[in-house]
Amino acid sequence: MTGGVIVSSIKKVIVVGSGIAALSFAKTISENCQVIMMTKKQFSSSNSMLAQGGIAAAFSAHDSVDQHVQDTLAAGCDHNDDKTVQEIVGFGKHLVQQLVAEGCPFDRNEAGMPQLGKEGAHTSNRILHAGGDQTGKTLVQFLKSQLGSHIHLCEYHHVIDLLVHEGKCVGVVWKDEKGHVHTMTADAVVLSTGGCGSLYETNTNDPSVTGDGLMMAHRAGAQLVDLEFVQFHPTLLTIAGKAVGLVSEAVRGEGAYLEDETGRRIMKGIHPQVDLAPRDVVARAIFHEQQLGHHLYLNIHDIPHFSVRFPAIDAMCQRAGVHMASGRLPVSPGMHFLMGGIKVNEHGETTVQSLFAIGEAACTGLHGANRLASNSLLEGLVLGRKAARRIEQLPKLQKTIPSLSIKEVWSVPTISEAQIRKKMTAYAAIVRDEKGLQTLLDELEQVSFQQINVKDITNEQIELSNQWALAICLVKSALLRTESRGGHYRMDYPKRNDALWRGKQIVHEKGHIHIMKNERIGAEWNVYS
Ligand code: SIN
Repeated sequence: MTGGVIVSSIKKVIVVGSGIAALSFAKTISENCQVIMMTKKQFSSSNSMLAQGGIAAAFSAHDSVDQHVQDTLAAGCDHNDDKTVQEIVGFGKHLVQQLVAEGCPFDRNEAGMPQLGKEGAHTSNRILHAGGDQTGKTLVQFLKSQLGSHIHLCEYHHVIDLLVHEGKCVGVVWKDEKGHVHTMTADAVVLSTGGCGSLYETNTNDPSVTGDGLMMAHRAGAQLVDLEFVQFHPTLLTIAGKAVGLVSEAVRGEGAYLEDETGRRIMKGIHPQVDLAPRDVVARAIFHEQQLGHHLYLNIHDIPHFSVRFPAIDAMCQRAGVHMASGRLPVSPGMHFLMGGIKVNEHGETTVQSLFAIGEAACTGLHGANRLASNSLLEGLVLGRKAARRIEQLPKLQKTIPSLSIKEVWSVPTISEAQIRKKMTAYAAIVRDEKGLQTLLDELEQVSFQQINVKDITNEQIELSNQWALAICLVKSALLRTESRGGHYRMDYPKRNDALWRGKQIVHEKGHIHIMKNERIGAEWNVYS
């Protein structure tokens, strides 16, 4: 039990995570709020820091917000929320313009204007980069430099659960570096904890991204949606069967192409956008070729000054011993991004009062079934800002919160992280079918548990519990969706089935799964089954 709390007059907000969305929130929120930004590792341990590819915004004279919206919808396979797409793409452009005006060091052309690159499924050059292939890191550092003294960064503060009182989120439970358990109350909690790359053997995510935010929200009673839509990035540098790191899609945007060991271009004839087809299409094509025994390479011969344009990728290749003069980088796909997440409205509000989610942890409906490249930093910027504005309008906690009970005993599954990853990679990755998914679900559900007191549980055991529970939710969603759409490809249902599935989302509530029609009329969702 945690003791009663006398509420101070200052509005207090806890942000969990330290990526772009969290920083956009922190940059925006008024000085009348005290923000405690907790991150379980170092400040720099986030997916945003690793983002090579940039931030999409319709800056070119030949481009428009409307065209960016159309590309987002086409890549998302008609599973996006149209209104959200309009809002984020339009407002996002404004926020990027603001960053340019504030001096964010985006790469510029000879005329001093932001240089615009291309990535998969974009019909125009509209990707801003910084530091060549270090956009995320540059943006994180720039936003951090803009934070006021009302933002308190707390590294190695591992938030393990949420405090809920009368259906409202009133704070967090966290562990310090020594493993001691603490609670902290707040007027609002914002989850910016990323997705769940760690569920797969090969992924591009920071190792700290273990689905914690999603499962904390789930335990608190918030709805999760669209978990079956998992994006695999087509090109991870792969040496002796092991992925070493991401090779940005911007490399294909500059003219690189995929070929097999004989030099055959594998994307020819597969999609009109060839090597710049949507990511799900390219990842499946590579997977198919690998199943046939081929080895895949990114041919970078046509890119002049590769090491200048892509310094971090070049350095990674050198470290990995790639013979750069060959002009071929060995690649294979890896888990990159979760389109689904904690269901939120346009302000980042979850279905639990005073609990917000932003960034990859949230599902706004922007990405649909397959995210358009470089739309995620944009979404983080917009949603961070909108959540901050919303929280400023919330009333302060007025009364003393009574004693709150915390989850004292945790059930930790007797399965290793490596075993979960192996099974997820085998049965719930780029292609799936009922037999494999059902086998996986049975194996996950048949594990036994150790009961461990919260005082004794390790960070790794908490992450493992979250990963196991999230894997089950993801697999159940993948089993239910009997069609193929975007990042969810079912070999036994290889076609899109609009008659049955268009606009429907699979929604997880504590103890229930619903298939809902996403009509998004105000906050109303119609439950169909
Ligand atoms: C990339 O650089 O290819 C990744 C960009 C993104 O995921 O949006």
